[in-house]
Amino acid sequence: MFSRFASPAVRRSVQQFSKSTVQARFASTKPAAADHPKKITGVTAAIVGTTALAYMYADNVSANMADEGLHPPHYPWPHSGPLSTYDHASIRRGYQVYREVCSACHSLDRIAWRNLIGVSHTEEEVKAMAEEFEYQDGPDENGDMFDRPGKPSDYMPKPYANEEAARAGNAGALPPDLSLITKARHGGEDYVFALLTGYMDPPGGVEVREGLNYNPYFPGGAIAMARILFDDLVEYEDGTPATTSQMAKDVCTFLAWAAEPEHDERKKMGMKATVILSGLFLMSIWLKRFKWAPIKTRKIVYK
Ligand code: HEC
Repeated sequence: MFSRFASPAVRRSVQQFSKSTVQARFASTKPAAADHPKKITGVTAAIVGTTALAYMYADNVSANMADEGLHPPHYPWPHSGPLSTYDHASIRRGYQVYREVCSACHSLDRIAWRNLIGVSHTEEEVKAMAEEFEYQDGPDENGDMFDRPGKPSDYMPKPYANEEAARAGNAGALPPDLSLITKARHGGEDYVFALLTGYMDPPGGVEVREGLNYNPYFPGGAIAMARILFDDLVEYEDGTPATTSQMAKDVCTFLAWAAEPEHDERKKMGMKATVILSGLFLMSIWLKRFKWAPIKTRKIVYK
């Protein structure tokens, strides 16, 4: 811009000046040493890149069945749809399986008797079930602890007093608490179902240590828990045939509920929020257009 209007002499001197500043600038920032950091950066990037690729590749190789367990298939749970609730009859049967089978080894620390009320059992049923267990309470007026029958506010009784006792009863392995197990494992209830129904003889060439059992869904393939569920292990009160997969499905539904008791309420709330908020959203569009109508339709004339 400037040089278009300047005289040839001024233009020349300006060109001269900018040329020399450019040269000077380059001269001052281009010492021989400046090449080195670039080379070093390049080499580092190459090393980092190759290592990352190597790790990715190594990870792919090790992401095999033996180390991480076979990926469980996805089962069509009645509660997995965005608007579907738990199958409560299944929760009730699942509680029966937990009580009669799993509770011999696994605790369920985060569930109290009262949580079952209105979900799978009536209040009277829950009171009767809780009363079958003795709970230590106290101290009484003499400072002594005493036993009393359970109440709905008590938490599910534990099979073992502490971790050491649990390990001692299971050849050194700790049966984990099942309250949050479907949240604590990849695959959730799909994994637990696949685990419970996936016991089989080890394939040729696979050695399983004494006291462990082969299960391809368990990371490492060898699990301390033996196969637990066999056909007709429990007798359902509603007459459902107690096949292995039926019991596994029911206990998984029960455990999914135990890990997320607010599930049904959450989906109902989400439904309400979606309906109300979309109504409000449409109204807000209408209101905006209403308020802006005079501004959008005005005509400004300058005189
Ligand atoms: C005889 C005792 C016993 C019974 C009964 C039992 N388990 Fe286990 N369970 C164990 C032990 C021990 C482990 C730990 C296994 C290990 O770490 O190798 C375990 C582990 C588990 C795990 C965790 C696996 C993992 O990924 O870490 C789940 C889930 C499980 N059991 C579910 C159940 C269910 C559901 C039932 C009832 C149908 C049940 N168990 C009955 C002893 C038992």
